[in-house]
Amino acid sequence: MKRVIEPNTTLYPVPVVIITAGIATPNVMTCNRIVSCSAEPPRLAISVRQLRYSYGLIKQTGEFVVNIPAPAQDILTDYIGVVTGKSEDKIAIAKLKLASGRFVQTPLLADFPVNIECVVEHEIELDSHTMFIGLVKAVHVQESLLDAKGDVDFSRAQGIAYDWGVVRERPTYNFRVEDLRRAVQEV
Ligand SMILES: Cc1cc2nc3c(=O)[nH]c(=O)nc-3n(C[C@H](O)[C@H](O)[C@H](O)COP(=O)(O)O)c2cc1C
Repeated sequence: MKRVIEPNTTLYPVPVVIITAGIATPNVMTCNRIVSCSAEPPRLAISVRQLRYSYGLIKQTGEFVVNIPAPAQDILTDYIGVVTGKSEDKIAIAKLKLASGRFVQTPLLADFPVNIECVVEHEIELDSHTMFIGLVKAVHVQESLLDAKGDVDFSRAQGIAYDWGVVRERPTYNFRVEDLRRAVQEV
């Protein structure tokens, strides 16, 4: 027996990443609307709501960095996904260390195991979101995650397993923003 539920983007599994955007004053946002959309050359597409602070930064600079979190960075990922850079410097509050990319000027998150530098090639307006299709220019990987062939072996650092909420851009834990902020400041 099956039930037809309201249309939504249910998929499994759903990646959850942190996007860095902006050069002079960089910002971070959590994103689950991300797909691999071509191979030769490699491209990733992210969908961002126009009201996000990161949206304007990606439009301005034409670039973004995809940072893949490790399991222990789940609360940090929630914090970055519920607070906006319009009102709070998330990078300073969470004491995120930045690193330089090879091709883009947008900084990488040094403590995240994988960082992917992307340059925006196309933008597609999709009502609620704008999809930015980014050409992958470089992939930085923590050495311990590389297998013998030089590919990323995610079984060595399971991506964060969001139990619920990813379809709707919500955090894993239903913590209050104050609690998330305190948790990331204590690390
Ligand atoms: C798990 C999770 C996934 C999210 N995915 C997206 C997404 O794909 N696109 C989007 O526009 N917002 C998404 N959000 C919401 C933004 O991360 C959130 O609104 C954030 O505060 C935006 O930051 P900014 O205003 O500093 O750019 C997600 C939030 C969470 C917790």
